[in-house]
Amino acid sequence: MRCQLIISALLGLFLTFHININDAVVFKFTNFVCESYNQSWFVFHNYRLKAVSRNKVLLNMNGTILHPTNNMSIHVRIFKKANGYKPWLVDIYFDFCQYFRKRNQPVFNIIYGLFKGFSNINHSCPYVGPQIVEDFYLRPELLRIPMPTGDYLLALQWYFDKKIQFDTNVSFTFVEDLMKSK
Ligand SMILES: *[C@@H]1O[C@H](CO)[C@@H](O)[C@H](O)[C@H]1NC(C)=O
Ligand SMILES: *[C@@H]1O[C@H](CO)[C@@H](O)[C@H](O)[C@H]1NC(C)=O
Ligand SMILES: *[C@@H]1O[C@H](CO)[C@@H](O)[C@H](O)[C@H]1NC(C)=O
Ligand SMILES: *[C@@H]1O[C@H](CO)[C@@H](O)[C@H](O)[C@H]1NC(C)=O
Ligand SMILES: *[C@@H]1O[C@H](CO)[C@@H](O)[C@H](O)[C@H]1NC(C)=O
Repeated sequence: MRCQLIISALLGLFLTFHININDAVVFKFTNFVCESYNQSWFVFHNYRLKAVSRNKVLLNMNGTILHPTNNMSIHVRIFKKANGYKPWLVDIYFDFCQYFRKRNQPVFNIIYGLFKGFSNINHSCPYVGPQIVEDFYLRPELLRIPMPTGDYLLALQWYFDKKIQFDTNVSFTFVEDLMKSK
């Protein structure tokens, strides 16, 4: 996809120029909304955020895939808040089963890198049974891309057999450490 190429090129540029990218003072979840569109294939038991300190918010999710799926795709979009949420750079749709064989999505590699240690969603297809994310919090040192200060929405929409099954939408705040980058 062309959009992907552009993003890869941008990432390459940013990495080459060594911009101070890890100096976030705040990087935390602000909202988490999930919804199943097909209760006979995916159910959420719970999903919530819990603030444990001013700048650390834990994300927990517990859902179940009721029948094995070997055909899973994901639509990943990032929005940035500016009089409502506006599309921001990332809008990709890809085969999630293939992703686990090839790891060929640079943007998603970053997202996955942030949460892989907190989840059992870290294997190849098929997927079935409990899908758990436990006490996941954001670590700015793992965010290897520069991001302007702002409020963001990461919308993940999950498809089985090319039909939408559920959404996991996460909002977060990112505040650059302006003192450090000078
Ligand atoms: C998730 O975000 C997308 C994009 O804004 C939106 O279309 C969808 O309705 C949201 N899902 C939920 C459950 O809020
Ligand atoms: C809903 O899930 C069932 C499996 O339990 C599947 O057979 C059906 O195609 C799904 N429907 C849609 C619209 O995704
Ligand atoms: C997830 O929810 C199910 C159903 O309520 C429950 O049996 C299970 O223990 C929960 N798992 C975790 C890790 O909380
Ligand atoms: C997935 O996570 C489990 C538990 O944290 C870990 O033991 C396993 O090695 C991980 N697998 C992969 C492919 O990362
Ligand atoms: C996934 O399911 C869709 C709809 O049934 C089908 O068109 C597509 O070929 C399947 N993809 C794979 C890799 O099996």
